[in-house]
Amino acid sequence: MATIKKMPVHWLVALLMISFTTLMVSCSKSETSTEQDMYTTQLSPDEIVNSAFKDEFPLQYESYLKNMVPENDNTSKFVEDIEPNLPILFHNYGFMLEYNKTRGHTYALEDVMSIARINDDSIGSCMTCKSTAVPALLDEMGDDYWSANFKEEIVPLTLSYGEGLESDELGTYGHLSIGCSDCHDPVTMELRITRPSFTNAMARQGIDVTEATKNDMRSYVCAQCHVEYYFEPDKKKVTFPWDNGLKPEEMFEYKENQAKEDGFEYDWIHSISGAPMLKAQHPEFELWSYGPHGEAGVSCADCHMPYERTDGSKKITSHHWSSPMDNVEQTCRTCHSDKSEADLVERVENIQSRHLEAMEETQDHSVRAHYYVNRMITVGAPQERIEEAQWYIRKGQWFWDIIAAENSDGFHNPQGGMDAMRTSSDASNEAISIAIEELIKLDVDLEELEAQIEETIQAVYNEEDPDLKHTHATNDNFPNVLELDD
Ligand code: HEC
Ligand code: HEC
Ligand code: HEC
Ligand code: HEC
Repeated sequence: MATIKKMPVHWLVALLMISFTTLMVSCSKSETSTEQDMYTTQLSPDEIVNSAFKDEFPLQYESYLKNMVPENDNTSKFVEDIEPNLPILFHNYGFMLEYNKTRGHTYALEDVMSIARINDDSIGSCMTCKSTAVPALLDEMGDDYWSANFKEEIVPLTLSYGEGLESDELGTYGHLSIGCSDCHDPVTMELRITRPSFTNAMARQGIDVTEATKNDMRSYVCAQCHVEYYFEPDKKKVTFPWDNGLKPEEMFEYKENQAKEDGFEYDWIHSISGAPMLKAQHPEFELWSYGPHGEAGVSCADCHMPYERTDGSKKITSHHWSSPMDNVEQTCRTCHSDKSEADLVERVENIQSRHLEAMEETQDHSVRAHYYVNRMITVGAPQERIEEAQWYIRKGQWFWDIIAAENSDGFHNPQGGMDAMRTSSDASNEAISIAIEELIKLDVDLEELEAQIEETIQAVYNEEDPDLKHTHATNDNFPNVLELDD
């Protein structure tokens, strides 16, 4: 990659934007010392309704509307060519019921209200990365927001902010789904942070986000949501486990130490192995941060919000968040102009296919570890050995999940993904080794055990209804250990 032209191209584009458009001058003020005047909108500083921005910013609004792609209906991840093992890996947890591929920001509010994982006990924290109403909810409710009942309190209050708005091109809920005010100050249109969880996590690392550079903000706005988090047990606040650093091993260390000291032990108990499990979320920001592009200062917006020319030949920032590979010319090739589009596509495909292959292998170890420990329990292996193996299952699955839940299929950080998956496999295999040692002492037929595991996995695969797959993950050979009588 010898001929990277990152900075020059960037400056050029910034200059072009300033000469093409007058509105943009305020947004680029930090880059032009000559323009000190702040543009201000006619909007209220508290504006949170997306369609309210339409009149003043028709081009960005029109671009934002491209996120409405009705054909991208919630595709389940459970199908054979995506992640058929999930109903086993997440047994006894909401993710065994429904786990869909992502879709556009404009659908986030609608999707969180309809997904099967949300139940009567779900809490306010689940709304945090879905709606522009969240800062208003926090203002109104204070820290009660986080643990308030999702269905009964949070949803009606959220929707009340959009009362009177008719269903239009944004559907019924798009007005308040992730949008303008999440990333922009409605009056100055400067990029801003609206989620305290991000500000606080950065502050704990000694970083003051109000001092961030404009380039950092082009990633920080995304890092409000595209990150790993957990609900701290006291107030159920969305908390990012970053005090020791952003790498998977540093976040795991946080969960095993600081989080436990605060009383957070696990997200759920696995009903096949009885292990106290941790669920990982979408750590795009973390993986990016120590990958080749994050280290080089290439921001999320550089690839996911390329400049686009509109009809009037104005250049704007695209607000259609999707795959950069749909637009290699305006994304990758603004910097990698020495590579052809075909070369770049091939590089990405190679990274992703190697990554997905490794992921399949890794999760296979996790699946088998659950069944091995299930057998330890049903044949009466010593309790402390079971607990030891359960801890390795927890560790192994988390190091797989933190990568599986990352949405770039390895692209944001190819090496980081591989390293975490190696840690995962080692830990899962350690659980299996402990089990084998104990099972041999108890004369368990390991060949028969392997055959039973294979048969069970096939039963899950062969069930065509995604909603029923998890029902085949336990059976007479591998009972739900949470339902055994001692
Ligand atoms: C997820 C964050 C995010 C959301 C949501 C968002 N924007 Fe932006 N917006 C950005 C980023 C990043 C830039 C580029 C800023 C820069 O580099 O100066 C930008 C730039 C802009 C600009 C400056 C001109 C340009 O095109 O670069 C305007 C105006 C704007 N957005 C309007 C909107 C409107 C209107 C909405 C809602 C329909 C919206 N934005 C939603 C992140 C967001
Ligand atoms: C307020 C929270 C929030 C912010 C801020 C945010 N995102 Fe998202 N993003 C989400 C959620 C939630 C989804 C999944 C929506 C769904 O599937 O319903 C998503 C989905 C996506 C997708 C997948 C879209 C698809 O069609 O599958 C991309 C790409 C994306 N975001 C990029 C970004 C980038 C880049 C930024 C910063 C400029 C950003 N997001 C800022 C919450 C956010
Ligand atoms: C160097 C370019 C680049 C940078 C920088 C980058 N991404 Fe990506 N991102 C990609 C590529 C390539 C993919 C994979 C797209 C595909 O498979 O079609 C991707 C995938 C994604 C997806 C999944 C999209 C989907 O359709 O499901 C999300 C979400 C995402 N990135 C968010 C982010 C966030 C947040 C940041 C910053 C922390 C970021 N990306 C930084 C190139 C980039
Ligand atoms: C804003 C500029 C910029 C954009 C946009 C960009 N890159 Fe890069 N890319 C870089 C820089 C800088 C490096 C680091 C170069 C180095 O270390 O030699 C890099 C490195 C890479 C590498 C080598 C990574 C490695 O492990 O050595 C690949 C492959 C790559 N980019 C592909 C892409 C693809 C594909 C896209 C579009 C999705 C893209 N880049 C978008 C600037 C960019």
